[in-house]
Amino acid sequence: MTTPRFLSRYTSLIESELRDALAGDSLLYAILRYHVGLEDEHGAPTLALGKLIRPSLVLFTTEKLGGDVEQALPAAIGLEFVHNFSLIHDDIQDHDEIRRGRKTVWSLYGIAQAINAGDLMQALAIAQGARAGREIVAALIEATVAMIEGQGLDLIFEKKKVEEIEVASYLDMIDKKTGALIRCAFRMGGLLAGSPIDVVQDLVEVGRDLGRAFQIRDDLLGIWGNGTVTGKPQGSDIRRRKKSLPVSMAFAQACSEDRDLLTKIYSREKIDDKDVERVIALMGQANVRQACEEQVNAHLEQARARFATLPFSERGIKEMNELIDYLARRKK
Ligand code: IPE
Ligand code: IPE
Ligand code: MG
Ligand code: MG
Repeated sequence: MTTPRFLSRYTSLIESELRDALAGDSLLYAILRYHVGLEDEHGAPTLALGKLIRPSLVLFTTEKLGGDVEQALPAAIGLEFVHNFSLIHDDIQDHDEIRRGRKTVWSLYGIAQAINAGDLMQALAIAQGARAGREIVAALIEATVAMIEGQGLDLIFEKKKVEEIEVASYLDMIDKKTGALIRCAFRMGGLLAGSPIDVVQDLVEVGRDLGRAFQIRDDLLGIWGNGTVTGKPQGSDIRRRKKSLPVSMAFAQACSEDRDLLTKIYSREKIDDKDVERVIALMGQANVRQACEEQVNAHLEQARARFATLPFSERGIKEMNELIDYLARRKK
């Protein structure tokens, strides 16, 4: 699958900024260089970066609305740091040992140092934002607060019964844990380009739909994706009793016999590999995958329609549509 142009266009720029921003001497900086994929666990250079979607969105939006890419770099890096600090802590919370096909920070360095590394990255995010000014710091902090609230809800939902979580609560949770940073990318791009307030607000709404599509696709890939490609463990959401959309839909759509089995599995003290397989088989029968894909597409089409009304050039709209097509099919 081809990577959309705007994602590859900014990669080297973002990579060199990440390198500069993480050039500290202490072990914690080495851990952060490992985490973002600039070094391997022995400190040797490597290139195992994430997709860099959020900083690319900042730079793309700024540039296409007539702003300056160089000036937007600190905001873009700040946001990528918020994202990466969230991942370091998320892997502790989710007990995940693999991310981007590599060992997670906590599983290599222990939980205590992983907390420190995440904290350091959060502080570095704000330091980047401060280079861009008060408005950008405020946007980064607001997004961080919402993201953490969403992460809190995600954990609260683990303890609840599937039937207790309505679609609206699921959407609220993902709008916070995932959507907040994607909305922030669009907001900062609009602000850095000096766009009028109504344009910035519409950009944020595009981010809301993209964020929902992004997390629902992530939920899907966690179940039906290829672990070697996603770089994340399969079935982990089921094992952790996450109230992901596929799980909620499985409960809603299963016949009463299957629903009883799901209830039984989810009330067990430990969900083992066999249980995970059973749940996945059940989802196949209830056609949950297709229903989730339809949700992803619906949110992407809403984003596409709104984006087309914004003051982007024809070329800018075309490139955003390429990103939207990629988000509908992404495998990692
Ligand atoms: C992973 O985000 C966390 C979610 C919000 C689902 P990405 O899929 O953007 O992660 P990387 O940075 O590309 O690995
Ligand atoms: C995504 O969390 C949101 C954040 C990390 C803030 P998930 O737990 O759903 O994402 P993955 O699948 O581990 O990347
Ligand atoms: Mg999580
Ligand atoms: Mg996780």
